[in-house]
Amino acid sequence: MIERAEWAGRVVQMDHPLIRHKLSILRDVRTGAKDFRELVKELAMLMAFEATRDFQLAQTIVATPITETTTHVLAGKKVAVIPILRAGLGMVDGILELMPAARVGHVGLYRDPETLEPVEYYCKLPEDIGEREVMIVDPMLATGGSASAAVEFLRARGARSIKLLVLIAAPEGIERVLADCEDVTIYACAVDDHLNDHGYIVPGLGDAGDRLFGTK
Ligand code: PRP
Ligand code: URA
Repeated sequence: MIERAEWAGRVVQMDHPLIRHKLSILRDVRTGAKDFRELVKELAMLMAFEATRDFQLAQTIVATPITETTTHVLAGKKVAVIPILRAGLGMVDGILELMPAARVGHVGLYRDPETLEPVEYYCKLPEDIGEREVMIVDPMLATGGSASAAVEFLRARGARSIKLLVLIAAPEGIERVLADCEDVTIYACAVDDHLNDHGYIVPGLGDAGDRLFGTK
């Protein structure tokens, strides 16, 4: 894994053994769409566990069958999960299993294969997006163009507190998001080596959308 001092505090790399194990199977070219989907969902759930570590708690009193006790419940902002279509959809269900009350917004972007620049085709967000903890989810952070554009759309529509959850990041994508987007923390299961001439992450896992939906 690549670690850089200047990323400190803005990039969280998740190296839990379960995550590393599942990511290895996900990368494997022999993994079919059914298992791929299941792994993306599980990885998203594990990531959400870490990405919610800073959520606020409030004290409460609960009566157990034995006695009353002081304990804690979530008390901070509510959550909005925002998948970048298409591949981000694969991460939504895993997060909703942990946080069933979260709202889901959608940002539709595809990467122009020639220019590698993101093209927007859809955006539908919860009305109170400005009051929510926003988690943008997308398995791949390659050039960073899609993620940076998604953050820009969300900011323009009032979003304030934004985290970006990706399974695999390229150093180039991290640099771009950190440069373009203030106050965004990136959570990644792995930071890979580089991008190839077609903008694919190396070693990566290939095209996440095609592998999720079996379109190639
Ligand atoms: C993939 C991926 C990201 C984007 C990353 O989506 O899911 O959204 O590429 O690349 P970038 O960091 O260089 O912008 P793609 O454009 O292939 O669309 P899809 O999800 O519809 O397949
Ligand atoms: N999008 C993908 O799906 N995979 C990559 O490696 C880069 C962008």
